[in-house]
Amino acid sequence: MFTSDSSGKAKQVYQESRIADQGKVSMVTIKIDDRSIDFPLQFGGDTILDAALKQGADLPFACKGGVCCTCRAKVMEGTVAMEVNYALEKDEVDNGFILSCQAHPTSDRVVIDFDAR
Ligand code: FES
Repeated sequence: MFTSDSSGKAKQVYQESRIADQGKVSMVTIKIDDRSIDFPLQFGGDTILDAALKQGADLPFACKGGVCCTCRAKVMEGTVAMEVNYALEKDEVDNGFILSCQAHPTSDRVVIDFDAR
């Protein structure tokens, strides 16, 4: 179970990476329902969920606050940082799952699979 302390650390890591990586852009691929959507995304810009929604992707979400887990997806390639995480268990995070409403890319290329369970 995540405590407020672990979410605080996650936010600090995200904010440090945001400062260090200003101006960098990642090529993001979203996979859902056996389809793919590709788009560029600034490291410290929109969340992966918001950016994908702007591209017309039909993705699941509800709270956009890191609580409900509806936006859960799996990182298949690359790395991301989450602003907060109140929903995922440690073993899910260790296995690559993210809350896409809280996630920002931290590598040049990121592949996110919404079909992974
Ligand atoms: S939409 Fe609720 S945790 Fe992302």
